[in-house]
Amino acid sequence: MNIIDKLNWRYAVKQFDVEKKLSEEQISTLVRAANLTATSFGLQPSKIVIVENKELREELVQYSWGQRQVADASHLLVITINSEAGDNEVDEYVKRTADLRSIPEENLEGMSKMVKGFLKGMDDNQKHAWMANQAHIVLGNLLTICAVEGIDACPIAGFQPEKYDEILDLKMDGQKSVLVLPVGFRLDSDKYASLAKVRMADSDYVIMK
Ligand SMILES: Cc1cc2nc3c(=O)[nH]c(=O)nc-3n(C[C@H](O)[C@H](O)[C@H](O)COP(=O)(O)O)c2cc1C
Repeated sequence: MNIIDKLNWRYAVKQFDVEKKLSEEQISTLVRAANLTATSFGLQPSKIVIVENKELREELVQYSWGQRQVADASHLLVITINSEAGDNEVDEYVKRTADLRSIPEENLEGMSKMVKGFLKGMDDNQKHAWMANQAHIVLGNLLTICAVEGIDACPIAGFQPEKYDEILDLKMDGQKSVLVLPVGFRLDSDKYASLAKVRMADSDYVIMK
């Protein structure tokens, strides 16, 4: 299958096979690949929470517009942001960069100041939106990664973030939920799999200048 065939194979799955589980290797691939997502300044304000626990996921269904994919998929990925991120996170990033690239931290002082200033320049709403944008890039990447790897998924924004935060105790991790992605394997009976893709013609989608 070429990339277009793989992307046509992908769809927002409505019915997952509760019996089929992703292997540890497949989960590791999703994590590694998502972790390679580009982020603004490279700051990575977004993380992935993996929920395998079935009871927790059953509880989350009622706060996900009743969408069963949350409980029925092999695993539930919750894409989160650390909306409190500030100087500490920039310092950690500087240290990670210095360590991994074997350069003195002092060489990164200018960049550090600039990023700290950028974060301080936003109010809470702007910061949340900026980080949520980063989370959406992770989601988009994961959808493509899943398609390439033959893993099914359903992007979900229809859920109550504050309930997820509470049930998954995300405050403890300094995180807030932004998006949800159940991953696993489709059921053959899911009629959405065979529906034609509804997209504009490429000639309408692209604007040539
Ligand atoms: C940010 C985002 C949020 C979405 N939320 C939901 C959702 O809550 N439930 C759902 O079934 N599909 C959801 N979708 C899937 C879209 O409805 C779907 O991708 C679109 O209709 C195109 O269909 P396809 O992905 O099957 O090709 C969401 C997609 C995106 C990108």
